[in-house]
Amino acid sequence: MIINITIDGPSGSGKSTIAKAISKDLGITYLDTGAMYRGVAYYVISKGIDPSDEKGVLGILDDIKMDIIYKDGEQKIIICNQDVTPYIREHNISMAASTVSKKPAVRLKLVELQRKIASQTDCVIDGRDIGSYVLPNAKYKFYMTASAEERAKRRHKELLEKGKDIGYEEVLEDIKKRDIQDSTRAFAPLVVPEGAVVVDTTNMTIDQVLKYIKERIC
Ligand code: DC
Repeated sequence: MIINITIDGPSGSGKSTIAKAISKDLGITYLDTGAMYRGVAYYVISKGIDPSDEKGVLGILDDIKMDIIYKDGEQKIIICNQDVTPYIREHNISMAASTVSKKPAVRLKLVELQRKIASQTDCVIDGRDIGSYVLPNAKYKFYMTASAEERAKRRHKELLEKGKDIGYEEVLEDIKKRDIQDSTRAFAPLVVPEGAVVVDTTNMTIDQVLKYIKERIC
């Protein structure tokens, strides 16, 4: 039987760090669904379309042929045969991804691919709506969170390490805006999924979170 582990939560809650560690420990696939929305956002912007332009985005949606591949254990987002992975972590793509992800047609397209992958392989899959909408019957469901200030601190540090000096206040504001946009959209918003174990990571180390989650899986 295929095993799916879902991890939902707001940006900066530590989902991807934990999901990667679990995937490595258990030898199962890690599917980062945020990267898929980021890929769409990047493609939309590269075509000169404003991510909030409903007609513009829907007009090119059918052109987006997305493939997910793994190279040296890393997930790559391929759109129309181009690896867009190097570009999707830019600061402006975060909000653009949140904006394109509000559109049900965008979500339905990506959810179809997510469900297909999850039905074929044991995986840990993170996002905003995985345990609530994409895979409500997953065997293990988690919801990770942390205070907005702590999440902004982590994201700010991550950006600095990449040589991007975006002020802490701007990062915090961006996180709060995205929280609102992701949790108030009409279709498949960010919620605590029914039956999910909630983990508040504000005052926890990565090792503590990992231990806590692994104890509930094995
Ligand atoms: O996890 P992330 O920061 O890479 O996600 C970028 C945006 O994509 C996020 O602000 C909302 C959207 N997203 C979503 O709506 N549903 C998902 N399952 C994953 C991400």
